[in-house]
Amino acid sequence: MADVVRISDIGNHVGKVTTVRGWLYNHRSSGKIRFLEMRDGSPQTLQCVVSANDADAESFAVSAELTQESSLIVKGLVKAHPKKPGVFEMDVHNVQVVQKAEINYPISHKEHGPEHLMQNRHLWLRTPRQVAIARVRAGIVKSIRDFFDSRDFVLMDAPILTPSACEGTSTLFETDYFDEKAYLTQSGQLYGEVGAMAFGKTYVFGPTFRAEKSKTRKHLTEFWMVEPEIAFWSLEENMTLGEQLVSTIMREAIQRHRGELTTLGRDISALEKIAEGNFPRVHYNDCVDMLNKNGHEFKWGDDFGAPEETKIGNLFGDKPVWIHHFPKEIKSFYFKLDKEDPRYALGCDLIAPHGWGEMIGGGIREEDHDTLKNALVHHKLNIADYQWYLDLRRYGSVPHGGFGLGLERTVSWVCGLEHVRETIAFPRMLNYLRP
Ligand code: 4AD
Ligand code: MG
Repeated sequence: MADVVRISDIGNHVGKVTTVRGWLYNHRSSGKIRFLEMRDGSPQTLQCVVSANDADAESFAVSAELTQESSLIVKGLVKAHPKKPGVFEMDVHNVQVVQKAEINYPISHKEHGPEHLMQNRHLWLRTPRQVAIARVRAGIVKSIRDFFDSRDFVLMDAPILTPSACEGTSTLFETDYFDEKAYLTQSGQLYGEVGAMAFGKTYVFGPTFRAEKSKTRKHLTEFWMVEPEIAFWSLEENMTLGEQLVSTIMREAIQRHRGELTTLGRDISALEKIAEGNFPRVHYNDCVDMLNKNGHEFKWGDDFGAPEETKIGNLFGDKPVWIHHFPKEIKSFYFKLDKEDPRYALGCDLIAPHGWGEMIGGGIREEDHDTLKNALVHHKLNIADYQWYLDLRRYGSVPHGGFGLGLERTVSWVCGLEHVRETIAFPRMLNYLRP
């Protein structure tokens, strides 16, 4: 059909008879006119006006009996809205019903609770708000890929099935791998380190898994993470790269997705401030002091939880903040320790403002063979499973590091969402495996 257009492109067809294919999102009648609100996956819907004057008799009759989500092919004259600039309408000549949907469509135009929406996630994804989120997510993925590809990072796909843990053994999903145990990967980092030694700069971008038993607004059991890893690298450089990545994501989201962000009610000026960069960098100790001075009792040596992240975020206003140099006990086995004061691990986490939480976790890796081997023993990990990882420290070891940025948390931050469950098509959480 040569004259079929997407609703997003309809503004280029004013004054022409064109065809739109999609689904009936909403409909109403007023006197002898029927209004069909069509959606086709574009960021906006299209009001199609069916009147006895313009439409053929059969189309006019059929449009009175349509049901929500019926699939339709609608042909008519495209017009600019008389009052609203940038909005278009169609005077319908013909309506072809591809399938008349059953009358009991589970997601009507009244409010539904999250439980009902989650059970109908396969249909919920059709609503304009979910389409907007999905489009922003796809745009962020593109920004991330472009960011690293244009800086000569070599993309490397790490395995999903692995014999070993990266981020502690308490959140591993175990599977039967023929006659041995395998785990769904918690992070591609250890393999990313192989890539860093092979390519100099690499990034891993794929799904990762954590058997998180907690129900929070920030945790999924399956989430996507982008993990750059770089040879000859320092903690300061790591934070600079993470800041450039986050500000690029924000800048491009504003440029490409202003319409979607408006649909979502996002305050775009808040994103503009983040796009400027200049994120403060604070030592863990200073963070602890700031918390205690501001009425939030906190003990040195503890890890920051959601309440601390929110408080810290608030203390720094609108910008995300880097926290660096963590007590080594709260960090994973692979962290390099600070030479000046080995109580601290050379880690850096980026905390987003306004309670969106930790976006990035990263740091510098231990590069000395014997020190790393001792750390594996200390963490009660099976050395045999990490032999290949130790090999990197035997053949041309160099200072190296990187970080992991959580895609779903980034999407919830950019879109301004209350919960990560809306940031991925089929969220996996403690109680959700279906659909
Ligand atoms: O801080 P994490 O655990 O760091 C790592 O996995 C490192 N190996 C990364 C690296 O250095 N290459 O996780 C990194 C980020 C977090 O900051 C957060 O954004 C996200 O991954 N994340 C989660 N997102 C959703 N649900 C969960 N359960 C998440 N756990 C971590
Ligand atoms: Mg972390």
